[in-house]
Amino acid sequence: MVAQTSWESELQAMLRTEDIEGLRRPTGEARGLPGRVYTCEDFARQEHARLFARTWTFAGYAHEVPETGSVMPRTLAGVPLLFTRTRSGEVRCFHNICTHRGSLLVDEAAGGLATLRCRYHGWTFDLDGELRLTPHWGGHNQAQAEGFDKSCHGLKPVRMARWLDWIFVNVDGEAEPFDDYAAPFMAHLSEYDLDDATWALTLHYDIAGNWKLVAENYLETLHLNFVHTLLAEAAPFEEHEVITEGACLGTIIDVGLPATWTGDAALPRWPGIDGANRTAKNLALFPNFKFVVGPDHACTMVEFPDGAGHSHQRWDFYFHGDGATATAYDDARKAIIDFFDTTNVEDFNAVEAVHRGHMSPAMQGARFNGIWEGGVHHFQKLVAHYMS
Ligand code: FES
Ligand SMILES: [Fe+2]
Repeated sequence: MVAQTSWESELQAMLRTEDIEGLRRPTGEARGLPGRVYTCEDFARQEHARLFARTWTFAGYAHEVPETGSVMPRTLAGVPLLFTRTRSGEVRCFHNICTHRGSLLVDEAAGGLATLRCRYHGWTFDLDGELRLTPHWGGHNQAQAEGFDKSCHGLKPVRMARWLDWIFVNVDGEAEPFDDYAAPFMAHLSEYDLDDATWALTLHYDIAGNWKLVAENYLETLHLNFVHTLLAEAAPFEEHEVITEGACLGTIIDVGLPATWTGDAALPRWPGIDGANRTAKNLALFPNFKFVVGPDHACTMVEFPDGAGHSHQRWDFYFHGDGATATAYDDARKAIIDFFDTTNVEDFNAVEAVHRGHMSPAMQGARFNGIWEGGVHHFQKLVAHYMS
């Protein structure tokens, strides 16, 4: 018999067999994950290795490394990553650590670089990750050492997939191919030609709540009438179709857009999306990527977890071609962005109150409504799948 490691038994105490069994029942009869799964720092740490490292987690944006010589560090679920734009114009992702003795390599985004030099002993890498220089490695003023093969000590690559501006990583390298993982998600977007999706603006938010509660809040519309006055009017909660297909979750609605969104100059629509199309797709790709697309706009919404009780959230807005930049569309862009921003801020009180409620020992798991909350149930089953 293989001895159980202490972290395995620790995890089993937090996510017990009866918790998993309660979750497996049909949505209307299931019992959700207990509060400690959302509030315990040990569980949050174990999520780094068991959940984020094993899935295709959203990590960054190609526009953050805009040209050859750009570099950008990002710590994702405890793992320091580094994005580079190489001489060939490719975006690469590496572990952001020096292969000599593990110093963090890059602290902040920069541009115009040909190489990266480690601050500790001067090992120098190019932006393809190749080790180029090892000062004094063979003796005083001798960079070359007999028998030492620099080509074996390049930066450690991280498995990544790029979809237009959006970069996903699979840190343990073992997940199914991204195209398979994301197939149901991509199928819902097949009518949109997003090749000219142009980034317009980033909004940053900090929420005093676990990243899973932020995600779950997005996956159900039952709260709309109680939390969102404007959104509930424009997109009645009962008209949303709930999506739960593998790693793809979300809701879809044929929505009446508020007249204030268009102003005098209507934004250019995605190619092929005609004037009668009013569909809003609020999709998510487990674990931390959300993608809202309408006829003339898209927004990526990402949770970057920071411990059990805090989430950094980042929203990036995209429009078709010069819809992202031309001043003629300033009013229309602003109307959409303001509407999204208002809606998001309205959610914070609710999510933070749910997080505080999950601190209670009485919170032994949610009840789900079988009509409206299938997305939340599905999300929790995915969490349990990766954590058990
Ligand atoms: S740790 Fe980077 S050169 Fe030594
Ligand atoms: Fe909401």
